[in-house]
Amino acid sequence: MSFKSIFALVALAVAASAVPSPRAVCSTGEVVSHAACCQWIDIREDLQANLFDGGECGEETHESLRLTFHDAIGFSPALFREGKFGGGGADGSIMAFAQIETNFHANIGVDEIVETQRPFALKHGVSFGDFIQFAGAVGVSNCAGGPRLQFLAGRSNISQPSPDLLVPEPSDATDTIIARMGDAGFTPNEIVDLLISHTVAAQDHVDPTIPGTPFDSTPSDFDAQFFVETLLAGTLFPGNGSNVGEVESPLKGEFRLFSDSEFARDSRWDCMRWQSFITDHTAMVAKFEAVMSKLATLGHNPLELIDCSEVIPVPAAVKLTAPTLPAGKSMADVQAACAATPFPTLSVAPGPATSVAPVPPS
Ligand code: HEM
Ligand SMILES: *[C@@H]1O[C@H](CO)[C@@H](O)[C@H](O)[C@H]1NC(C)=O
Ligand SMILES: *[C@@H]1O[C@H](CO)[C@@H](O)[C@H](O)[C@H]1NC(C)=O
Repeated sequence: MSFKSIFALVALAVAASAVPSPRAVCSTGEVVSHAACCQWIDIREDLQANLFDGGECGEETHESLRLTFHDAIGFSPALFREGKFGGGGADGSIMAFAQIETNFHANIGVDEIVETQRPFALKHGVSFGDFIQFAGAVGVSNCAGGPRLQFLAGRSNISQPSPDLLVPEPSDATDTIIARMGDAGFTPNEIVDLLISHTVAAQDHVDPTIPGTPFDSTPSDFDAQFFVETLLAGTLFPGNGSNVGEVESPLKGEFRLFSDSEFARDSRWDCMRWQSFITDHTAMVAKFEAVMSKLATLGHNPLELIDCSEVIPVPAAVKLTAPTLPAGKSMADVQAACAATPFPTLSVAPGPATSVAPVPPS
């Protein structure tokens, strides 16, 4: 070997060692791109077994996904511009200061999942902000056809209580929600993308007499059935009459939020967006993954966090049934919002009109 080639080899070796390779083999044998990601494998296994009932898309998954939003949206550049504290975004403050934040009206019911999650976060010694986003990402990977969300680790555990009135209410006017979400950095189209979450969702507190009432007929499937059913004419209240933030739904046992109803019917922005998900599941998942990356890092510089997305489970490959019009409905019940782009033609589920079963408490 010539001096020249030995020199080249040494130069290569020096270059390689100058770039520290954080790749690590975890105790499970899984290889991760950064040693800091190993602990999230243990947390994932613990959550799947002991929080999500063996990997289900049930009540805890739904609540954990909702919590990612209620922690993160406590972030207002407008308040900072007024010289006030505007909140730290996805900083875990809703868990650290639960006695303050879970008493905000819009956070009704989140105290349950905060108290359920906290012991897991403490046991594993990770920050509350990281933990909340991680639990939401692992949980929603359990939903049939679900997304694989990005997960970045390294949020500080130090936070201050979020100011009140930053979390949208289901009774809020669309303009109010657009202004609030816009302050946090979301376009109206991105609000629609965030509402994809409501395809795996139920309510417990808008009408507390009927806990577990889902927003669509398939609350454990990450499918577009929500986007079909929210566009059907409302005919009934599933519970004991109307409540603040509620409007009539099209199916017995199904719940419709006023805000979802308004967003579904608003044609001020990309009119196609709501109904476009009905025929394009891949796009729906991709839109949700993109907007959740933004939500999960509100108040943070993503470049300062460590990408541990590889620890998030790959959702099982399942063949979702294509969205349908529920039995007993027809195209005449569709209240499509876009004159220019017709609502897709869907088949009608066979049989007599059915009612939607509640999400069982677990
Ligand atoms: C436009 C803003 C939004 C409003 C007004 C809104 C409102 C609501 C309301 C009132 C409930 C029922 C809570 C209960 O009674 O238990 C709910 C449930 C839920 N929300 Fe939202 N939401 C919004 C955006 C979001 C976002 C951005 C996410 C997540 C990314 C989300 C995820 C969920 C989930 C998963 C549930 C179901 C919780 C469960 O089944 O226990 N929501 N939402
Ligand atoms: C995070 O802060 C809470 C108090 O808000 C504390 O109980 C917990 O031990 C802290 N966790 C870590 C990892 O520092
Ligand atoms: C239903 O509403 C009526 C009238 O508002 C009230 O008297 C009754 O107690 C309610 N029932 C339940 C189960 O909440």
